[in-house]
Amino acid sequence: MRRSGTKAILAAAVACTTALAVSTAPAAAEPSPQTTPSDIGLGDVIPAPVEVTPDSDADYRLGPGTLIRTEPRSAEARAIGRQLAGTLRPATGYPLPVVPAHGNSAGGISLLLDDVGDELGSEGYRLDVTDRGVTIRANEPAGLFAGTQTLRQLLPAAIESDTRQHETWTVAGGSIVDHPRFEYRSAMLDIARHFHTPDEIKSYIDELARYKINYFHIHLTDDQGWRIEIDSWPELATVGGGPGTGVDGVGGGYLTKDDYRDIVAYAADRHITIVPEIDMPGHTNSALSTYAELNCDGVASPPRTDMAVGYSSLCIDKEITYEFVDDVIREIAELTPGPYLHIGGDEAHETSAEDYRAFMQRAVPIVQKYGKQPLGWNEIVAAEPSTDTIAQYWHTTTDHDEIADAVERGHRVIMSPANKAYLDMKYDEDTPLGLSWAAYIEVRDAYGWDPADYVNGVGEDAVLGVEAPLWSETLRSLDHIEYMAFPRLAAIAELGWSPQQAHDWTSFSERLGQQAPRWEARGVDFYRSPQVPWES
Ligand code: ACM
Repeated sequence: MRRSGTKAILAAAVACTTALAVSTAPAAAEPSPQTTPSDIGLGDVIPAPVEVTPDSDADYRLGPGTLIRTEPRSAEARAIGRQLAGTLRPATGYPLPVVPAHGNSAGGISLLLDDVGDELGSEGYRLDVTDRGVTIRANEPAGLFAGTQTLRQLLPAAIESDTRQHETWTVAGGSIVDHPRFEYRSAMLDIARHFHTPDEIKSYIDELARYKINYFHIHLTDDQGWRIEIDSWPELATVGGGPGTGVDGVGGGYLTKDDYRDIVAYAADRHITIVPEIDMPGHTNSALSTYAELNCDGVASPPRTDMAVGYSSLCIDKEITYEFVDDVIREIAELTPGPYLHIGGDEAHETSAEDYRAFMQRAVPIVQKYGKQPLGWNEIVAAEPSTDTIAQYWHTTTDHDEIADAVERGHRVIMSPANKAYLDMKYDEDTPLGLSWAAYIEVRDAYGWDPADYVNGVGEDAVLGVEAPLWSETLRSLDHIEYMAFPRLAAIAELGWSPQQAHDWTSFSERLGQQAPRWEARGVDFYRSPQVPWES
């Protein structure tokens, strides 16, 4: 389903066009003698790079003889080189062999691990384009990967095609020095309200990686459905995630442990770390309806697939509750190589403040016992957990004493205010999908805030990063996910990566407009916001 094209397109001038020049000349061997100037400026990338120094005399043109040279003896650099080759081969039709970078051999695309300075950290990179080649240097493989995502956007949009295109594959000359503002740049997908298959999840991960998102938070359980296999409580998945457990009784399903491991590995290949969420003590009706003994009265609650929230609670006074929590967290921690495990804690309206505190005082140490750092929605700080517990701010107010006090105590915060960062909020009143309880969020609203200057008392040092959650009550397919995520995901990604001084709506909206032919070539559904000067 393609909804693109249903909205009016602004006639605004587009600074840089990616009009696809058809090349009749045979592709040049390198170095290319007569390089057609690139139509894409060196800084025309999302997220905006930190420092861009163009050199219009140094454009580089890929040709059939281009090699991809990678750091010798680094399997990770080689893997990134192979991935890059895999993405560039279909549209160019070039063989792009991946070879070790030896000695002073120059030319082609080089991916080198090098000391590029502490300020670039583990994800930063330098990208230098001369008329002989493109060299990406980074302290760590994650930086090389980020650099290759930049390079991809510097090539004509036709590079995203999966069939051979007649195109001049020119990259603008000059240098980029780039590193992220925040260490945690995340997207969340709710697979509980509607189950989304491993293939759909992987497609979404593919898109996230292009925008330098480095964490993927999966909301695995909720009132309607339980979507992850747990060996010690097997009916959670088979019954709690069985047929008809999506909102309105549509769909159902769950990830097997092998599915989950496969997603973890797929994400890791794209330098994305999985953050699993098991929401508790509220949002637990799928567990309570599956196992009667988890209820205070020993009677299974009825299964529910409506969209109400805040009605369920684990039984705080029963010991079996903590056996259940221990089993589930242990099994999820075993499956998860990343450092974080999210235990929700939001909207526990059926749990008294005293019970909530008692519950979290036991649940948080269980997460720590299994070697993970606890993460929870912002309500979790009311339970005064240990200060390594990271709070995810989803409320909307700019004054929030509880979270400001938690920051004073030493907690760090992930910013996802629902009226700015929630991808399931409708763009406007005509959006056919999504909800609107927090706000309508047009692209400019999603872009127009500063994660480190949103809640009073929660400044740059307290902000671990930013996340764009996508709740799926109304979303049943990958098209639905894409339509709500794009283009706003790109806005949140830029807020997470680019320095505050780079934030500029005019520049962003023009760069965003250039993403349209790329999304189209990849078959990604997106919302053609009238605020954006879309190309093509
Ligand atoms: C939430 O939106 N209840 C975290």
